[in-house]
Amino acid sequence: MNVERIKLHNFRNYQELNFSFLQGVHVFTGCNAQGKTNLLEALFLAVLGKSFRAGKDDELIERGKQSAKIEVEFNNLIASHSLKLDLYRDGTRKNVLDGQAIKKREIVGYLNAVLFCPEDLWLIKGSPSGRRRFIDLMISQVDRNYYQDFIKFNRILLQRNHLLKKIQQQSAKPKLLDIWDDQLIELAVKIHHRRNEVLRKISELAGQIYAKITSGTETFSAHYCVFDQDKTEIEFYRKWYQQRLFEGRNNDIRRGNTEFGPHKDDINFIIDDYEAKLFGSQGQQRTAVLSLKLAEIEMMKNITGEYPILLLDDVMSELDGQRRERLIQEIDGKIQTFMTGTEIAIGLEKVTATYYSVSAGVVERM
Ligand SMILES: Nc1ncnc2c1ncn2[C@@H]1O[C@H](COP(=O)(O)OP(=O)(O)O)[C@@H](O)[C@H]1O
Ligand SMILES: [Mg+2]
Repeated sequence: MNVERIKLHNFRNYQELNFSFLQGVHVFTGCNAQGKTNLLEALFLAVLGKSFRAGKDDELIERGKQSAKIEVEFNNLIASHSLKLDLYRDGTRKNVLDGQAIKKREIVGYLNAVLFCPEDLWLIKGSPSGRRRFIDLMISQVDRNYYQDFIKFNRILLQRNHLLKKIQQQSAKPKLLDIWDDQLIELAVKIHHRRNEVLRKISELAGQIYAKITSGTETFSAHYCVFDQDKTEIEFYRKWYQQRLFEGRNNDIRRGNTEFGPHKDDINFIIDDYEAKLFGSQGQQRTAVLSLKLAEIEMMKNITGEYPILLLDDVMSELDGQRRERLIQEIDGKIQTFMTGTEIAIGLEKVTATYYSVSAGVVERM
């Protein structure tokens, strides 16, 4: 899978940008606040339809301008595509894939990417939401049904929470929760099952990579966990969740919020039999995150038959020589990569890469 061209108009600090890319590694260097991450952000818009850091489209439009345009041409095994996004100040937007208007949520699944940025180094020790995001983002790209279920789940969750608040204020009856609960359970079961299934494979792949990086001296695994149980069978989960929702109903009403479900689940990482969150050293965490990202790449390849693109935002400088080497070895010659940094990373001299400078929203090939 390759990005062939990107065009930007009034996107963040880019007034105009038009670049075509071949396969291989593309390295963008420049001082801070010049537009390096903005460029990866624009590419990522073609992956998920939304930014990995901005909450609203509004932030993406160049200050003082009324609209922004992002156009990304790319190919996957099946076809070449052109995706055009027009974002407007009033919050509306137009998404056009190959000349046809599509909804934002339909963008996902055409261009696949693995994103690796400094915040990911917190994947192990950070909040559960980061870990859920890791797994959801991965599965969503390769499984449209999952993404639809995920969106539906969140919508129903919102509606359930809204109803909980109304019940709390005694303007609705608790019995009304029944229909939301049934729907919530069905979707939760699907999400739980798929996350668990994918995570087992990720765990296996990441475990192998981790062992390689540490020359077999340490072991690593990842486990999907749901509060107080770790059973994985569908029926077990369904019953467990049903009971949880039922028993927790009064508590949920008091809080006006649903306290259990896929939106609260977590992933547990184990290094050498110990919980990495609690006991992992900084070096071990970095190795773990790198292993997980490389596993994510392999996993997507296994499912779709081709490698996703890789977006590396400012992470080379965060990795030591050995880990950097490992990463470079993995991508060289097979994965189209867009990487940024304030300096050209040591170790890159071994690969054929194209270099660009980024300064105040202007990109030049070096
Ligand atoms: N909507 C916007 N309009 C104009 N400039 C913006 C907008 N959003 C961000 N910027 C500018 O983009 C720059 C940051 O770009 P970024 O890609 O994050 O930098 P870096 O090169 O450090 O990765 C800052 O100068 C910021 O002011
Ligand atoms: Mg940056």
